[in-house]
Amino acid sequence: MRTLIATEKPFAKEATTGIRQIIEGAGGTLHLLEKYTDVNAFYDAVATADALIVRSDKVTKAVVDAAKQLKIVVRAGAGYDNLDLAACTARGIVAMNTPGQNANAVAELAIGLMIYAARNTFRPGTGSELKSKKLGIHAYGNVGRLVAKLGKGFGMEVFAFDPFVPNNTIAQDGVRVCASVEELYGTCHYVSLHIPATEQTKKSIGRRLLSAMPKGGCVVNTARKEVIHEDELAAVLHERPDMKYMTDVAPDNHTALQEAFGARYFATPKKMGAETAEANINAGLAAARQIVNFFQNEDRTFQVN
Ligand code: 3PG
Repeated sequence: MRTLIATEKPFAKEATTGIRQIIEGAGGTLHLLEKYTDVNAFYDAVATADALIVRSDKVTKAVVDAAKQLKIVVRAGAGYDNLDLAACTARGIVAMNTPGQNANAVAELAIGLMIYAARNTFRPGTGSELKSKKLGIHAYGNVGRLVAKLGKGFGMEVFAFDPFVPNNTIAQDGVRVCASVEELYGTCHYVSLHIPATEQTKKSIGRRLLSAMPKGGCVVNTARKEVIHEDELAAVLHERPDMKYMTDVAPDNHTALQEAFGARYFATPKKMGAETAEANINAGLAAARQIVNFFQNEDRTFQVN
């Protein structure tokens, strides 16, 4: 069982050590390709791998073609839009994610970005508080649930919309259920995005939803840049001097937004929602255990293709 970790953005050292212990403890070998800048290095390293662990690294058809022996790829994280599932399936490669393992880190960053927005990105002047503001959770999955809980801790009034989660399971957390996505944006001062990037969600957050937000509206995106309609976001920020956009996934028009909107716009220099030792350890070790379980017990829990 030859396992490759291919991470352009490496795991914390403790996570790599833990992964090694699990893989070697099961009789396998672990190989590392970290901080690679040339995709050819990925093609070379994956050629002899039976199992692959990645983060946001793109597992394209070309990677799959190069991975002649690959049986399983685990995305150590939640979103698996970086995996070419069709290519994996065509080759009989099992693709998995590790849902929930890095959720707390992302949720904490979402709240951090809200505070940063409320305090004018730490520029001098009068800010505001999260307390008593309405917080909208767009998609009530592992991260959304934790943001809701943290928001309540700050005294926020929490609302959620998720077409795939039954309303009663949202309401039982003391969160108010919105009947539509329009109601969520029309109600909440802060909307925290937790939707995946799919053909249905790409560019789905645009003028219609953003301009419906109440005065002082702020969208926090720790999900994916693709879900935002960037031109419409820029237009709404121009039209509404009260609106803010804080993101952990910088849009393609980052420089233009940064120049135009000052304290009303912020993007982290590199996606860092899951960049904590804890999240790396949780997701990395879960990935290693899933690989061992797959080879030893044919366990396919968390398969996404
Ligand atoms: C995820 O989908 O789990 C997050 O976006 C984390 O991505 P990362 O592993 O590249 O930090």
